[in-house]
Amino acid sequence: MEHYIIIAMVELKCSGLLKKYEGKRALGPLNLDLKLSGITSIIGRNGAGKTTFIRILATELMPTKGRVELDGIDVINNPSELRNKIAIVPQESRPIPWMTPIQIVSSYLMLRGVGLKEAKMKAVDALKTVGLDEKFFNKLSHKLSGGMKRELMLATVIASDAKIIFLDEPTTGLDPISRKEVWRVLNKLKKDRLIILTTHYLEEAESLSDYIILINKGKVISAGTLADLINSLKYPYSIRASAKRVGIRVRNGVVIKSEKGMQILTTEKSAKTIIEKLIKKRVEFSFGKVSLDDIFYTLVGKEYENEE
Ligand SMILES: Nc1ncnc2c1ncn2[C@@H]1O[C@H](COP(=O)(O)OP(=O)(O)OP(=O)(O)O)[C@@H](O)[C@H]1O
Ligand SMILES: [Mg+2]
Repeated sequence: MEHYIIIAMVELKCSGLLKKYEGKRALGPLNLDLKLSGITSIIGRNGAGKTTFIRILATELMPTKGRVELDGIDVINNPSELRNKIAIVPQESRPIPWMTPIQIVSSYLMLRGVGLKEAKMKAVDALKTVGLDEKFFNKLSHKLSGGMKRELMLATVIASDAKIIFLDEPTTGLDPISRKEVWRVLNKLKKDRLIILTTHYLEEAESLSDYIILINKGKVISAGTLADLINSLKYPYSIRASAKRVGIRVRNGVVIKSEKGMQILTTEKSAKTIIEKLIKKRVEFSFGKVSLDDIFYTLVGKEYENEE
């Protein structure tokens, strides 16, 4: 396992930030003052507002109201200054089919002001970094598989030397090995830049993120390190048992039953009492802090269950 010192620390400030589409609120109003570093993951359900948020931060979309500042730059009034520092791979973006990976990455760099020779060298380096098979460097990009296209899009932003990189669902649709490959690249990149990504894979967000922003219905409902998120919960501990009934009354916590057994979310103190009882009853169980999945269901899922 390689370790890197994280040096990029970027401030994100929003006040009254609001985005409406055709009069319908999609995001905000957001009032935030966050210090982001390394890999920051934005998570939330479909339609929560993740893409809207990222596109506003990346100067691609104007908010309806409010102010937003990223790395000390006013995003709305000073977009061109910010654009030198950022690069984005939008959700479901695809490479131009009739260009080769080398052409795509180098022309992207040339648009950002890099000379032809340097652009080509940087393109090769970036394509190697993302692990694209060299056989495809000079093939038309429509011949690449879905995963390779993702790698190519990632290479364009990596090559740019941008301090802040936005990736909207960079691993959606990738096989498990390609996904791990992307993780490896992101972990390497984060040493001197901020990566803001969205994902629906919570185990991915859990293992990759230095910072997590949970959005629900356009509002930030939790933000911080995984430990911060866990500590903000009423029930930060989880006990799982394979039995569906254990004959224990849980006074301080919630019990979630499933096909595989049961899970109890509870406080540290109650967990101790419950565990003692489970041992006495010789019920097999596992115990630990809640996962990001549990946090997501606790903060977001319950609300929807109650609505149904
Ligand atoms: N161009 C648009 N016109 C009208 N409504 C839009 C537009 N783009 C997004 N929306 C709406 O804004 C809300 C937030 O959408 P957004 O794409 O930001 O969600 P998301 O969190 O990125 O979702 P997903 O996980 O599905 O990508 C949704 O209700 C969506 O229908
Ligand atoms: Mg989206």
